[in-house]
Amino acid sequence: MAGALPPLNQEPTFQKLQEYYDKQGKDLNIKDLFVKDPKRFSKYSLRLHTQNDGEILLDYSKNRINDEVWDLLLALAKVRRVDAARDAMFSGQHINITENRAVLHTALRNRGTDPVVVDDKDVMPDVRAELTHMKEFTNMVISGVWRGCTGKQITDVVNIGIGGSDLGPLMVTEALKPYGKGLHSHFVSNIDGTHLAEVLKKVNYETTLFIVASKTFTTQETITNATSAKTWLLEHSKEPESVAKHFVALSTNKEKVTEFGIDSANMFGFWDWVGGRYSLWSAIGLSICLSIGFENFEQLLDGAHYMDNHFRSTPFEKNAPVVLALLGVWYSNFFKAETHALLPYDQYLHRFAAYFQQGDMESNGKFVSKAGKAVNYSTGPIVWGEPGTNGQHAFYQLIHQGTRLIPCDFIAPAQTHNPIAGGKHHKILLSNFLAQTEALMAGKTVDEARAELTKAGLCGNELDNLLPHKVFVGNRPTNSIVVKKVSPFTLGALIALYEHKIFVQGIIWDINSFDQWGVELGKQLAKAIEPELDHCNEVSTHDSSTNGLINFIKANWK
Ligand code: F6P
Repeated sequence: MAGALPPLNQEPTFQKLQEYYDKQGKDLNIKDLFVKDPKRFSKYSLRLHTQNDGEILLDYSKNRINDEVWDLLLALAKVRRVDAARDAMFSGQHINITENRAVLHTALRNRGTDPVVVDDKDVMPDVRAELTHMKEFTNMVISGVWRGCTGKQITDVVNIGIGGSDLGPLMVTEALKPYGKGLHSHFVSNIDGTHLAEVLKKVNYETTLFIVASKTFTTQETITNATSAKTWLLEHSKEPESVAKHFVALSTNKEKVTEFGIDSANMFGFWDWVGGRYSLWSAIGLSICLSIGFENFEQLLDGAHYMDNHFRSTPFEKNAPVVLALLGVWYSNFFKAETHALLPYDQYLHRFAAYFQQGDMESNGKFVSKAGKAVNYSTGPIVWGEPGTNGQHAFYQLIHQGTRLIPCDFIAPAQTHNPIAGGKHHKILLSNFLAQTEALMAGKTVDEARAELTKAGLCGNELDNLLPHKVFVGNRPTNSIVVKKVSPFTLGALIALYEHKIFVQGIIWDINSFDQWGVELGKQLAKAIEPELDHCNEVSTHDSSTNGLINFIKANWK
């Protein structure tokens, strides 16, 4: 791999961007830019032609960019050697430097015939073998060949996992509900016993399959939930052999799976080069297969592979992940935007933002560069969002009229899976999506607000007092991503689009996007506190706040 990068703000291109921002960039007005250039939409939008499921449109014209900014941002991607880093990832180099691992979720969806070599070994035969295993198992369960311990067909699938072993399967299963094959999917992640208890209330032990999903098979929440689920099964079935019919494991850790009591024949494996938050493409996707069938899971992989090829082979100025990444850098590092909203106008995508909270924040929530030096610029944003139009009636007020700049991505399908009332709902939904991006950009001037109030019959003090509250500054940046329909293929492409966006930003910020040491400290301290909750003495070994909280809980929990 190429040598170390200079700190981002010592990069001459970054400095030029800063100068441009200070002089004029900060004052760019999107509405004015549209007036000056009627062709702005075609200049700043991309249409990705997929063979399978129509086009994907990325409209990024409603951003505070002009040619000067855009050329500099594209140049920044070049000088930060995004292309070399991308090729290093796809070719299996150990780019996860703190864990000395390759990063190859792209191999899991490599639908071509090319080998993918990691440490002198082509991993594709193993990837394909595991997919075949998943296919056979999926078909057996869906067709009813696989039976529970009393001979009944499986009706419910409970995925027990957390983080990447939960959020991806959950998000995709929800997003692709229209493709469901009839099994009921449930997800248990939280260590809070309520989560498992509520799911167990809904299922019958004779017809339930538990999937224990954990890359490491040491995650406390997952192993505790899985152990309690196993106890529940045995209490009902009274037969130790029932575990083999009702439990399968998805993991890289065969030893721990066997130790837990799951036969390795019922284990679906993957590899250390699959990061947890990139694992839905691996055996961790088994709950997705069981929900939508294996052919649809393959379509999901195809969509992601399509986006991988686009990312690998398209010049930066037409490269959708690079475009999204550069816009994010522009707002984070120059406008100092703290957050980024993901706003899907599709109810089925209601966990999309939650999924990319982990995808983005666990990847790019880093304060040291790859060389271990504290950075003096912002890295990953806070990612959040809810599906429209719910968000409109909750937090859009702040996006429109608050004091913060919140870049937003709107994601919408042209077609709905549920054209009820003659398509009326979808027409209203899409009108709202379109209106929001227009309103965020255009705002409402004082004159416009005054004219509106006058027309409504207001005048004098009454009008003057109300007027400032009715003004929208506008100039709020948005991206719009429109797909024909939320299908397995387009969803796969969308997920890969955001994965690669996050990757590109990590390269520009010179951080390791593939470790997650930040979740360790809390885990360590929780392990130390757990035994302290058992004994009845007052605890005094922590700071006074932590002692006070522990002692209050101990005094009140029985
Ligand atoms: O939250 C930390 C983390 O390691 C995530 O990266 C991962 O997705 C999650 O825990 C679950 O890990 P595992 O699949 O090993 O149980």
